[in-house]
Amino acid sequence: HPQKFIDSFGRHIEDLRISVIDKCNFRCTYCMPAEGLPWLKKSELLTFDEIERLVRISVERGIKSVRVTGGEPTVRAGLPELIHRLVNIPGLEDVSLTTNGFLLRKMAKDLAEAGLTRINVSLDTLVREKFQHITRRDHLSEVLAGLEELEKYPSIRPIKINTVAIRGFTEPEVLDFARLARRKPYVVRFIEFMPLDADQTWSPDKILTGREIFEMINAVYPLVPVDTDPSSTSRVYRFADGKGEIGFINPVSEPFCSTCNRIRITADGQLRTCLFSTWETDLRTPLRSGMSDDQIGEIMLQAIKKKEMKHKINEPGFVRASRTMSQIGG
Ligand code: GTP
Ligand code: 5AD
Ligand code: SF4
Repeated sequence: HPQKFIDSFGRHIEDLRISVIDKCNFRCTYCMPAEGLPWLKKSELLTFDEIERLVRISVERGIKSVRVTGGEPTVRAGLPELIHRLVNIPGLEDVSLTTNGFLLRKMAKDLAEAGLTRINVSLDTLVREKFQHITRRDHLSEVLAGLEELEKYPSIRPIKINTVAIRGFTEPEVLDFARLARRKPYVVRFIEFMPLDADQTWSPDKILTGREIFEMINAVYPLVPVDTDPSSTSRVYRFADGKGEIGFINPVSEPFCSTCNRIRITADGQLRTCLFSTWETDLRTPLRSGMSDDQIGEIMLQAIKKKEMKHKINEPGFVRASRTMSQIGG
């Protein structure tokens, strides 16, 4: 048996996040610049065969769940086929998708038929003008329609909504999101703004902490904690009256690095051991130069052994990651 993916702090790496494309059809201000970025050429992207091979190698070494990300993953041609291929890998317990939802109305059926069982949809505001401001696109109604479409496919549950919380932007809508989570089968999760935006407008004073949002909601709709896996990014609560759930992803104010079980592969085949890594390990060259599964698994393991203990967002001299969020996959 090949050696398992365990890092130098004893963390068992069980979650692999794969970006399948760097392009996106939105331009969220907390992620991409208005003009976009120099996109990868098609030949630079991992093929579906290469992705499937890396996942098989990883599953042999302890990966249990795969999350498909982008850029915007639905922009990658043939995404449902890739999902279908991943779902059928023996030993892989969970395949999920993180999307902006714009193409979901069209694609939900194909994704359900491909065997997708979990989905996270990004949605930062329920107000059209604010949506236009934050995503630089006028597509709120398409995203809401995509979410409604998902409700038709009970095999895809839970439906989670990711809401990046930004001070001065999110506060007026906190209770509206709470009511959305009560009314709809959506688990809304507020995410603290992280310094991964291309425009570099992030600053500590723009963080609206999960604790503050919790207090705002709990004062009106009392919340009760729900047990969650310690490796999870989110702390989840249910409404005391039983109507729905809400979660908090607090990477800045309450870092969850000590239980981090995640690694990432970028669309161009670079292994990243942390969202905030300043270095990467090339897997595409080994894939394309005839190396064996064992050799590639070993290259991955050596990188994992150097996985960062934690991010340093809160420390003086914090150095930003070598890529922006859209190039990493979130
Ligand atoms: P679930 O498995 O459904 O809980 O998904 P997830 O929270 O792991 O993934 P998702 O793609 O929905 O990410 C939600 C937010 O958490 C995004 O802003 C991610 O960037 C952030 N996130 C995910 N993993 C990590 C991590 O390891 N470290 C940090 N700092 N943020 C993370
Ligand atoms: N800080 C926090 N979350 C972010 N996301 C994108 N950029 C940032 C950021 N700078 C979120 C997206 C998506 C997930 C993959 O990451 O909204 O839901
Ligand atoms: Fe893991 Fe790095 Fe995220 Fe911390 S910041 S939870 S180590 S990926």
